[in-house]
Amino acid sequence: ASDMGTDLEKVLLTEEQIQNRLNELAEQIETDYAGQDVLLVGVLKGAIMVMADLSRTLHRSYETDWMAVSSYGSGTKSSGVVRILKDLDRDISGRHVLIVEDIVDSGLTLSWLIANLSSRGPASVEVCTLLRKPDAMKVDLKVRYVGFDIPNEFVVGYGLDYAEQYRNLRVVGTLAEHVYSS
Ligand code: PRP
Ligand code: MN
Ligand code: MG
Repeated sequence: ASDMGTDLEKVLLTEEQIQNRLNELAEQIETDYAGQDVLLVGVLKGAIMVMADLSRTLHRSYETDWMAVSSYGSGTKSSGVVRILKDLDRDISGRHVLIVEDIVDSGLTLSWLIANLSSRGPASVEVCTLLRKPDAMKVDLKVRYVGFDIPNEFVVGYGLDYAEQYRNLRVVGTLAEHVYSS
């Protein structure tokens, strides 16, 4: 167990900043997809909070589905090795798919996921991510909806973990040095 109060070095995004930005993104999404059927695909486990809050900000009903993929293992570096731990429950052919993510870091997870979902014959595949690290990206990716561009630092909270901890923080922040050395 960890004391979330003392484990954070600094808060990058407050609860209010996150919610305000998600409201703006939801508005854009509703405008862009007006009159269209959209399937929201959350990427477990990091996207749970973004999916919960973004989807509840939307005004009409959207089907949601989940994929579980993993690229980090328990450390802080992306390996580029993507594994499907859980696939979608339903067929996506002919459908507009909006992938919901917490963060685009190296972009390896997402570029793999976009290719994988695109091969299933959807009408479109777009991405909504709360966070993006432009300085960490290793692949050229176009992400339609980005909450915040952040510096290339390891961040936790609001779905993002360090060794499976801290996902339940309401804010996004960096961890204090003592967390890594213990
Ligand atoms: C994290 C994060 C993104 C991905 C981004 O997931 O939630 O899905 O890594 O990294 P990339 O852009 O460098 O590929 P992770 O693999 O840690 O699984 P998790 O969501 O269960 O924490
Ligand atoms: Mn993830
Ligand atoms: Mg992780």
